[in-house]
Amino acid sequence: MIALACAALFAASLDVSHYVENKDPAVRASLETFRDRKLGLMMHFGLYSQAGIIESWPLVDDDAHWSRREIERDVPADAFKRGYYALNKSFNPVRYRPEAWADAAVRGGFKYVVFTTKHHDGFCLHDTKFTDYKTTDPSCPFSSNPRADVVKTLFDACRARGLGVTAYFSKADWHHPDYWDNRGVGIRTTRNPSFEIESDLPRWKRFQDFTRNQILELVRNYGPIDALWLDGGWIHGEGPKSLNLHDVVAEARRTTPGLIAIDRWQCTDCEDVITPEQCVPDEPIGVPWESCITLADHWGYHYDDCYKSAREVIHLLVDVVAKGGNLALNVGPMPDGRLPHPAVERLERLGDWLGKNGAAIYGTRVQAPYKSGPWAFTRSKDGKRVFAICLWKAGERELRTQLLPAAKELGAPKRVVHLASGKEIPFAARADGGVVLAFPADFARDECADAFEIFR
Ligand code: GLC
Repeated sequence: MIALACAALFAASLDVSHYVENKDPAVRASLETFRDRKLGLMMHFGLYSQAGIIESWPLVDDDAHWSRREIERDVPADAFKRGYYALNKSFNPVRYRPEAWADAAVRGGFKYVVFTTKHHDGFCLHDTKFTDYKTTDPSCPFSSNPRADVVKTLFDACRARGLGVTAYFSKADWHHPDYWDNRGVGIRTTRNPSFEIESDLPRWKRFQDFTRNQILELVRNYGPIDALWLDGGWIHGEGPKSLNLHDVVAEARRTTPGLIAIDRWQCTDCEDVITPEQCVPDEPIGVPWESCITLADHWGYHYDDCYKSAREVIHLLVDVVAKGGNLALNVGPMPDGRLPHPAVERLERLGDWLGKNGAAIYGTRVQAPYKSGPWAFTRSKDGKRVFAICLWKAGERELRTQLLPAAKELGAPKRVVHLASGKEIPFAARADGGVVLAFPADFARDECADAFEIFR
């Protein structure tokens, strides 16, 4: 098993010794593209967005201590569960504009989206044939909207703009009758099936078939999909008690050769990308990875959420990229289908920064010493270009000189060029091999971070 210990937000020690390298050349090519893209916009959107509560988890009695905190204490668990499931009857994001989401992603410098086609609550944002619990069923008021198939309209808008597409899909389905008895009403629910799988293998087989059908439907009818992001890591293994994902993924790859499979936390050949959650590994880990991190405090929309600053987000992205990973930055769209204003503001600032400094981010690979003090390092894939990115602290205003530390891996610089302005920065070499950059008086510093190309 992968040991993931999140000491605090943004720091994790990760043991990836069990990572299974995919030998399929088509998948390896997709993984190269994936690693070049660096930045994905993740969006959690579903029934929970309307209520502004935690996604799906409040349905689980075992997890109620943290997930049901926002829910009125005097609502009995069963009444709550019934009310949650009935949210499909009021789901109506009339201001949902897939083009607006995709445009915001492009403006923000994102190269792909990761979208919740179905979260653990089982509500599908697409026109699946395998359940009525979906945006396109007449039981949902949004079904009469031309954009009722949220997944299709979003994926089409993304692909039309050159964005990659990752389909988030929950393996657990707390609405399916072959997962929980009686939709969890009248029983104490855990994240697991409410019955012993061994004791009713035919029932589990029905759930296996349902999952397989839904995954293949996404791949066949909503493609081309670049990656399948399979959440619900507690359902695992092979054989009759599993979901046989190895076979399902193999079948999906007959439709989409090179499809990336992200069966989270399984260490099998269906986990092509490691996905640390709300944290970043301490150091480069040498395998494809993508940290999913919320822009605010929650995955789904919350009415009083607290958004990270543009500086925090830019620094986070640089940290991730300097360690060789991707960042899936999550935004929860609002109940009416628009992106929250504070999110849009941050994305625009991020996009401005990437517009000037993107050469040091996209398509890069790790460059030792990776990070050192306020500096982070990257290089182009062919190794010809090396970049140093300085992360400015809030309130650091009067900067005239800055030490670029000695790093034997970098070699002695001959020229240092500020990426955003294209201006050469004078510097003085020190005996230890470090250089002191002397910024000219008219140097226009970025508020958050500046990237420099180091010519050796
Ligand atoms: C956590 C949450 C889940 C969310 C996921 C995204 O596992 O429990 O609800 O979808 O993170 O990475």
